Amino acid sequence: MSEKIRWGLLAAGTIARAFARGLAQSQTGTLLAIGSRTPEKAAAFAAEFGAPRAYGTYEELLADKDVQAVYISTPHPQHVEWAIRAARAGKHLLVEKPIGINRHEAQAMIAAAAANRVFLMEAYMYRCHPQTARLVELLREKAIGEVRVIQASFSFQAEFNPAGRLWSNALAGGGILDVGGYTTSIARLIAGAAVGQPFADPLAVNGAGRLQPLTGVDEWAVGTLQFASGIVAQLATGVSVNQENVVRIFGSEGHILLPTPYVSAREGPVPGRIVVQRNGEQAPCAIEIPSVLTSFAHEADAVGQAIAAGQREAAAPAMSWADTLGNLRTQDQWRAAIGLVYEAEQRKNPPG
Ligand SMILES: NC(=O)c1ccc[n+]([C@@H]2O[C@H](COP(=O)([O-])OP(=O)(O)OC[C@H]3O[C@@H](n4cnc5c(N)ncnc54)[C@H](OP(=O)(O)O)[C@@H]3O)[C@@H](O)[C@H]2O)c1
Repeated sequence: MSEKIRWGLLAAGTIARAFARGLAQSQTGTLLAIGSRTPEKAAAFAAEFGAPRAYGTYEELLADKDVQAVYISTPHPQHVEWAIRAARAGKHLLVEKPIGINRHEAQAMIAAAAANRVFLMEAYMYRCHPQTARLVELLREKAIGEVRVIQASFSFQAEFNPAGRLWSNALAGGGILDVGGYTTSIARLIAGAAVGQPFADPLAVNGAGRLQPLTGVDEWAVGTLQFASGIVAQLATGVSVNQENVVRIFGSEGHILLPTPYVSAREGPVPGRIVVQRNGEQAPCAIEIPSVLTSFAHEADAVGQAIAAGQREAAAPAMSWADTLGNLRTQDQWRAAIGLVYEAEQRKNPPG
């Protein structure tokens, strides 16, 4: 690539720091500007990560004609407004997961990207890591025969803070929309790869969960997905319980373990590992997937390459628009199964 994509980061929170580090490792992108709601925070972030420009409002970031691509990492409910405003300003877009709080918001952002002819991707960075591509290959090659059962967990225990992003109803807290989205997305990816498709959407979604008594968001939840192929998936998520955070795939001829399915470490090289145990064989075969980059760097380059190629959406296994809509629909159904409707949705766009 002759010239690097000039990125602007909208919000200077926790994950923006991981993306800025990833961008520094990328081949295709460079950090031009940071936009924060406060000038002091923008200036400190710019100094730490070497951004030449710092803005104390998001509006100023979007008005910078030299910014070509914008990374949005506000809390979930603010994604839709800023993604649509950025699309209208002609910026290509990488929007943190979940792209919106429900499929209606995802649809609105996709429509804005299409109308303004800009790239848009939901930032499930593990989909851009080579481990995910290798997993898809293995499933297509029937390394464990016909896939039958998927188990995916992603859950952690955070200290309760009713005003914080993970717990607040107004900030769309809870596990299903936070790390639960990884479990839905990887189960749908695996169920699709098993039948030669980029993803599959479940015919039925069921679930159970515990709602936080003060804020009403899901503290922990389990879900089951049933696919047309006969594959079933068990999902587990939460923001107030540590779980195993692995993925297991059971097939007619063996099983696969992903010890680090979401390759989500934020600093240093993040290699992958896929453990394949075939029925009747004494020892499993561990496939090592070297990587000197973080998933955020792989993600920045996937976006940079797609923009350079004139694409509007990412190719599988990264998140295409249809994949994002299917994932949000599944999360909507999972939330409906446990009775979680955000207060903002009770006024418009209920899930389900
Ligand atoms: N891909 C991943 O691995 C990963 C990991 C964690 C989180 N995420 C996603 O990234 C998003 C942000 O998560 P985070 O952990 O970075 O959150 P965070 O640390 O709370 O940062 C969010 C930032 O959004 C801005 N913001 C705008 N409106 C806000 C509001 N009403 N309340 C609070 N902050 C507001 C603030 O930045 P300014 O003050 O600078 O404006 C804040 O620092 C979420 O959608 C989350 O799901 C992704």
